[in-house]
Amino acid sequence: MAEEHYDILRRVNRLSKEARTGGSRRTTAELFSELESKLKGHFVEEENTLYRPLETVLGEDGPIMDMIEEHRMIQRSLVRAGAILWARTGHQTHPSELQRVCDSLDELIRSHIDKEEAVLFWLAAARGAI
Ligand SMILES: [Fe+2]
Ligand SMILES: [Fe+2]
Repeated sequence: MAEEHYDILRRVNRLSKEARTGGSRRTTAELFSELESKLKGHFVEEENTLYRPLETVLGEDGPIMDMIEEHRMIQRSLVRAGAILWARTGHQTHPSELQRVCDSLDELIRSHIDKEEAVLFWLAAARGAI
């Protein structure tokens, strides 16, 4: 899973850079679609193979509900970025708005992955949940 995290971080960083430097709409859209589909698969797998077993061990008062909520926040942020990316005002896009949403997506994903690697992986190993 750590390798997947690295791949996701690399992708969101590229997307953010592309949005910041006003790259082509097609490249930005491709990077966005790849990241979106990568994250969808990652979240499903992670919730089934890491979060559920951990929740069984830790109970509902543990951090899992918050982590699931972060997945939903990231998904909402993806929907916002997608809406901006596909929106047209005439034939204009909104580069600064797209840049802002991509930067916030980058920040959200980084902080989420940091928590998983610093806390959840360790907890799961220590409590025999994986
Ligand atoms: Fe996650
Ligand atoms: Fe993850």
